[in-house]
Amino acid sequence: MPLPTSFIIQTNIQSPPRGLPFYSPLPFSPLPFTLPFHFIIHTMGTATDNFWVLALFSKCDSNSNTQNILCLAFLLLLAWLATAFLYWAHPGGPAWGKQRWRSSSKRPNPIIPGPRGFPLIGSMHLMARLAHRQLAAVADRLDAKRLMAFSLGETRVIITSNPDVAKEILNSSVFADRPIKESAYSLMFSRAIGFAPYGAYWRTLRRIAATHLFCPKQINGSESQRFEIAEQMVEALRNGNTACMPVRQILKRASLNNIMSSVFGKKYELSSSLKNVGEAEELSRLVEEGYDLLGKLNWSDHLPFLSALDPQKIRLRCSNLVPKVNRFVNRIVEEHRAQTREKKNSNSTDFVDVLLALQTSEKLSDPDIIAVLWEMVFRGTDTVAVLIEWILARLILHPDVQSKVHEELDLVVGKSRPVTESDIPELVYLQAVVKEVLRLHPPGPLLSWARLAITDTMVDGRHVPAGTTAMVNMWAITRDPSVWAQPMEFLPERFVGRDGEVEFSVHGSDLRLAPFGSGRRSCPGKALGLTTVSFWVASLLHEFVWLPSELNPVSLSEVLRLSCEMQFPLTVKLNPRRSV
Ligand code: HEM
Repeated sequence: MPLPTSFIIQTNIQSPPRGLPFYSPLPFSPLPFTLPFHFIIHTMGTATDNFWVLALFSKCDSNSNTQNILCLAFLLLLAWLATAFLYWAHPGGPAWGKQRWRSSSKRPNPIIPGPRGFPLIGSMHLMARLAHRQLAAVADRLDAKRLMAFSLGETRVIITSNPDVAKEILNSSVFADRPIKESAYSLMFSRAIGFAPYGAYWRTLRRIAATHLFCPKQINGSESQRFEIAEQMVEALRNGNTACMPVRQILKRASLNNIMSSVFGKKYELSSSLKNVGEAEELSRLVEEGYDLLGKLNWSDHLPFLSALDPQKIRLRCSNLVPKVNRFVNRIVEEHRAQTREKKNSNSTDFVDVLLALQTSEKLSDPDIIAVLWEMVFRGTDTVAVLIEWILARLILHPDVQSKVHEELDLVVGKSRPVTESDIPELVYLQAVVKEVLRLHPPGPLLSWARLAITDTMVDGRHVPAGTTAMVNMWAITRDPSVWAQPMEFLPERFVGRDGEVEFSVHGSDLRLAPFGSGRRSCPGKALGLTTVSFWVASLLHEFVWLPSELNPVSLSEVLRLSCEMQFPLTVKLNPRRSV
């Protein structure tokens, strides 16, 4: 890189006082020569750096080696601090500064605005706790809602809170990859759909899942299983303490059982007295642990020099978890292998059967099968339970809306029978409630998993280098008054059209509300997820009036893990509506 003369630092100044080699402030240097700034910029970690270090050594006076080494160390420290400061001073912080100074070509395009954060770590603090809220506030303050740059240690990140720019990012093939997190890699997710690199393997997995797990025929085929689980939930709620009933565990267990049935063909009961509960309990613990690990911001992902230390013990916990998951899923795969012959004439196939029956070109290895199955259980469990809990909380806080849902249920279904899935298309208001909750409480406010730029590209007229992580702040978009009228109000009516039809698709075509993402890597489980949520909410509402518990009032405080959950688990009071 050619350097302007203003970038030359004079260092031919006096030696420091004897015995205080590190005492001198910056203008005092023991070295009687000039150091080009080029040296300073490249002091960290390249072959060129080594060359400069050797060159410096050769210039030192051999009679005062110790002093020179100390001086050199001091100089290197200064150079390192200067570099860190220089990188940090760039809009967007150190990772963006590093990219700018190291890239050989000068690009005239406008720089993306963004917070500097702190030297070295950049804006890692913004990802702590409620990242979606903190990032939205900073973007607002810097007038960078369309596109903001920030640094997570050495990771360059862009984020948008604008639907048009979100569309540009999510629908571009350049952003069809995902940044790989160490925990995702350790937990085998790089071999499953969510974190597999964009390419032939990922396409094959998506195709298999779309054909055998998420297609309408398959979703309709598992209706009776969802019905059975809805009945079990109602039963569990009726038999519990209806004056003060915590619901989270029931929802999570119902979700887990549902996905276990679709994926593994395993049926578990909600009631703890029934068999198989040990297995369900074990799986639930494995999912919880995986969830916690994947939801954490791993410092080592962004500050590689910390990697060897594993300061948050994430690698250690992953390596403890993986053998347990392998053992669990492998046992189920082996059971299926053993049963294959008996099942030949049976119509009931689950996802394990499908993966085992794949023919040569698509055939997956055993570790790949385990990774894919584990991911489905993992992804399909929490998202559904988290969303239902938010919906129930909102309905308790807005009794007028709950009454309208009840009126609709009475009109469409009637009190004499339970809800069935064929009723759902007619429950227009209930579907609008689900959408309004997705708007105010998207389970993935930052769309859960980010995207990665495969090549250099332009976003909103600005240059984004390959290797940049891209995020969409869906939470900020859905609360933006320039996007939604009265965004803070809970108004399901906004999704009911003039002709009493449900308006607005949340499947990713309109980025004003795209809780399942958009483009090539959008959620493949959205139809299954929405069907399950709508049907179970309808069933729970049909059976009970949901009221706040006197001891634990509903709080809308959030906690962001992999999904954004209610911070205080919902506890309710229930009044039955239908006699059994
Ligand atoms: C309410 C329910 C759900 C919500 C809100 C949700 C949300 C999301 C979001 C935001 C993404 C990232 C999309 C993007 O990058 O554009 C995603 C990806 C994914 N979801 Fe879902 N999801 C839900 C249910 C499910 C279910 C039930 C399954 C499977 C059983 C599932 C499996 C996946 C997978 C495998 C991916 C990764 C796709 C890829 O990278 O190609 N999701 N989901």
